[in-house]
Amino acid sequence: MKEFIQNLPKAELHLHIEGTLEPEMMFKLAQRNKIDLPYESVSEVKEAYNFDNLESFLDIYYQGSQVLQKGDSVRHTEIFFDPQSHTDRGIDFETAYQGIYQALQDGESKLGISSQLILSFLRHLSQEEAFNVLEQALPYKDTIVAVGLDSAEQGNPPSKFKAVFDRAKAEGFLTVAHAGEEGPPDYIWEAILLYDVSRIDHGGRSMEDPKLLDYLVDRQIPLTVCPLSNVELKVFDSMAEHNLKKLLDLNICATVNSDDPSYFGGYVSKNYQAAQESLNLNKQELYQLAKNSFQASFLSLETKQELIAELENYCGLTNSNRA
Ligand code: ADE
Ligand code: ZN
Repeated sequence: MKEFIQNLPKAELHLHIEGTLEPEMMFKLAQRNKIDLPYESVSEVKEAYNFDNLESFLDIYYQGSQVLQKGDSVRHTEIFFDPQSHTDRGIDFETAYQGIYQALQDGESKLGISSQLILSFLRHLSQEEAFNVLEQALPYKDTIVAVGLDSAEQGNPPSKFKAVFDRAKAEGFLTVAHAGEEGPPDYIWEAILLYDVSRIDHGGRSMEDPKLLDYLVDRQIPLTVCPLSNVELKVFDSMAEHNLKKLLDLNICATVNSDDPSYFGGYVSKNYQAAQESLNLNKQELYQLAKNSFQASFLSLETKQELIAELENYCGLTNSNRA
């Protein structure tokens, strides 16, 4: 199973680039950039990765971002970047953007992994600050596919940012939003009804609202589920209690993703593996998750079809026995 998952063609749709900073790299960059870290060693950093909830993680995550990729058969990634984590420290938008954009170009030429960028607004800050970052992003809008909303969810509903999402849509950006990670199902409704989101990031709390579940199924609005993150941030007490399989059984377009892999113990295949083991997912379900990842992506219809054909070939499915 491990090998099957490792080699399964898939797309990663929920990855915060700042969340891929490994502790070793954090130390190297802190030295180079002469930044004092409140840790003596790499192992001390790792010990601090013991979270009670989203807030306790974000405290460390934003600190790590101050210092500023495996054979997972990932064909395509759609990556969040949080410009405000950098512009708030006096790093200009262009510097943050150019470094990330260049790395994604290298990923495509050296590893054959295509990618798209999603600019994410920090929801614990004001809408005015989000407008400010959107303004700075406009010269690069041809290379940024969508805008998103992340950071501390509770008390910061999508309605707080309606005007800036309206402006972003008028500029041609697609929209996504973290919702229903810790926040209530109402926040998922707001993201759908106020932003017309292409997908919901996390969305696990949709399970509490049967009407919302029906809506997600009818419209096939995808959820980018992050199993290891949800267990590490105590959204679920254990992987065995995760609702990923229930979502799949309901015919929700659920996908598996890694969120902040260096903080939560693994990249995308590790998330598939952990969920497979604890929830007893079979190959058909793994195939469905990978297929959903391509369907839910911002790729062209033609590229989606090519990647799904590669996936079906890998899974031994042909036109006559396809699910
Ligand atoms: N930023 C990085 N990871 C996040 C998460 N899991 N939820 C909200 N904001 C985040
Ligand atoms: Zn996230």
